Amino acid sequence: MASVSVDEAMRRAIELAARGLGTTSPNPVVGCVLLDEDGQVVGEGFHAYAGGPHAEIVALAQAGQRAKGGTAVVTLEPCNHTGRTGPCSSALVQAGVARVVIAVPDPNPVASGGAATLRSAGVRVDLGVRGDEAEAGNVAWLTSMRRGWPYVIWKYAATLDGRSAAADGTSMWITSEAARIDVHALRGTVDAVLAGVGTVLADDPRLTARNLRDGSLAIRQPLRVVVDSSGRTPADARVRDGAARTWIATAAEVGADPHGRVDLPALLAALHQRGVRAVLLEGGPRLAGAFLAAGLVDKIIGYVAPRLLGAGPTALLDAGVTTIAEAIDLEFVDVTQVGPDLRITALPRKREG
Ligand SMILES: NC(=O)c1ccc[n+]([C@@H]2O[C@H](COP(=O)([O-])OP(=O)(O)OC[C@H]3O[C@@H](n4cnc5c(N)ncnc54)[C@H](OP(=O)(O)O)[C@@H]3O)[C@@H](O)[C@H]2O)c1
Repeated sequence: MASVSVDEAMRRAIELAARGLGTTSPNPVVGCVLLDEDGQVVGEGFHAYAGGPHAEIVALAQAGQRAKGGTAVVTLEPCNHTGRTGPCSSALVQAGVARVVIAVPDPNPVASGGAATLRSAGVRVDLGVRGDEAEAGNVAWLTSMRRGWPYVIWKYAATLDGRSAAADGTSMWITSEAARIDVHALRGTVDAVLAGVGTVLADDPRLTARNLRDGSLAIRQPLRVVVDSSGRTPADARVRDGAARTWIATAAEVGADPHGRVDLPALLAALHQRGVRAVLLEGGPRLAGAFLAAGLVDKIIGYVAPRLLGAGPTALLDAGVTTIAEAIDLEFVDVTQVGPDLRITALPRKREG
């Protein structure tokens, strides 16, 4: 078999890591490729679920004796602590690995220090190979660990003229079945789905991740969160069914902003405490506006249908913008056709000052 470069091995490790997306939280996604002294792949692994073996341990188990003198190529700095599994840095040292190549350092203060442990045991450590790519694959986890609150994706559906419902309030379904299937897949990759009480009262959504064809529930369900200052969510609301965990987040429990509404930074901090790393904000327009006004949205995914309504509610309400100079500037990073609709992904540009 041909030998593999460290760069190629890292590309493969990043691919492997992505297989854990949606099931590893509150842990990161991690991939590992083990090369022997001749650069042959002797082990591969990824972290599949929290509490399960780490990527390095899976790869080491495959490699056995062949790991000795070899190179471990890992997307994230090997952990240095004993959690539900032992420290990966020690396992690599014990296996006799001579070199460890890491894409991104671990920002988690509890687990970091793996690179130092490896170096002090005489292992050569290189950092930063395909760092940007590995960072992008783990962006929600890395962002949330660095700043202490979850990565927030605002998702909405609208017509080409930005309407989220018709003038009479009817809105089912603005976008196609293909777009809705895409949304259910997206729900499966996050830890929590958030909606304002206005949406719960208007639409009575389930907010579960489902197979739309047969209605069956995905194995892993995000926490459903209703942002509901004074507890107006009806007792028989669908979000209260037993299909997934639900948190009705009230101002009394989370803390109130100056208007007596749920304090959004406090809400995100509380979610982080519960192990939530990625949040899908599903509206409605009032809550989304408040999140955007507070600068709490990291990514926007808009599903845009090839339809016009000309009247009716818009997808976004007051976001704290009163004049064009205050507009929230975005960068489009992806445009994909989903059935007849477009899925547009945008990132808010960082504001100066
Ligand atoms: N097209 C789409 O993608 C989409 C998605 C979702 C919903 N919708 C539509 O949106 C409509 C409902 O939207 P909506 O704007 O009335 O309701 P909403 O955004 O779902 O909920 C707004 C409510 O959230 C509560 N809230 C608690 N803390 C808040 C805070 N810090 N900032 C802002 N709000 C806070 C407030 O009620 P309290 O003060 O009582 O807590 C507020 O009235 C429905 O017609 C639905 O069909 C469309």
